[in-house]
Amino acid sequence: MAPDASGTGTGQVTVRRGIPAGAERRAAELYWDAFGRKLGPALNPPEKAVPFIAAHLNADRAVCALLDGQLIGLAGYQLGGSALTGGSAGAVLRTYGHLRGLHRLLILALFERRPAPGQLVMDGIAVDPGARGRGVGSLLIEEVATLAAEQDCREVRLDVIDTNPRARALYERRGFVAVRTERTPYLRALLGFGAVTTMHRPVGTRGARDL
Ligand SMILES: CC(C)(COP(=O)(O)OP(=O)(O)OC[C@H]1O[C@@H](n2cnc3c(N)ncnc32)[C@H](O)[C@@H]1OP(=O)(O)O)[C@@H](O)C(=O)NCCC(=O)NCCS
Repeated sequence: MAPDASGTGTGQVTVRRGIPAGAERRAAELYWDAFGRKLGPALNPPEKAVPFIAAHLNADRAVCALLDGQLIGLAGYQLGGSALTGGSAGAVLRTYGHLRGLHRLLILALFERRPAPGQLVMDGIAVDPGARGRGVGSLLIEEVATLAAEQDCREVRLDVIDTNPRARALYERRGFVAVRTERTPYLRALLGFGAVTTMHRPVGTRGARDL
């Protein structure tokens, strides 16, 4: 069954691979809206963060949801050593200054996630706040799973923070199983979360609820 992903009701949601040319800024805004709280200590202020993210996106490392041609959601992934969000250490230092940049690089290193062989890491799914709860996120997750199968991956992996139980519930409904939790209570004051749970979904399985 198709999810009720009709957005405002004016059109149909389509899912595509890659960020459309010209939509990089919009993608960065969606990403920041979803992850600004988590990434703020590394990339704030938003006026700097959004252009920085937009300028360093790897457009071919996302699946996107469009409604009437407008980007309303995206899911980034890592494959072949490349992830949706880029930006070298040099770029961070040039943008934020050498002294402040170093501190930011250390924080960004905490978010580094490297896929094991046979894994596709989904690292950042975001849907426009006005379009949430209508199945768009689920469509994106299924597209990432299809992509993982095409790439002969064994499993899709993601990480979810302890302050996002609704996202975790969504992942469980879509067939992800928690495999471990890393507790970092000393980071709660800085980053707003104190634990990260890694979840896996074997390739070839579907979520509990069919789409
Ligand atoms: C998580 C997210 C991508 C889900 O997208 P979506 O299009 O709302 O997903 P679906 O419509 O397919 O599924 C809805 C389910 O998503 C989950 N969800 C998580 N945060 C949600 C939110 N703010 N609003 C609505 N649903 C949310 C819930 O489990 C919801 O089911 P429920 O209504 O029974 O609680 C979206 O809510 C979002 O962008 N959140 C902010 C960014 C984020 O938390 N990303 C995940 C980081 S691990």
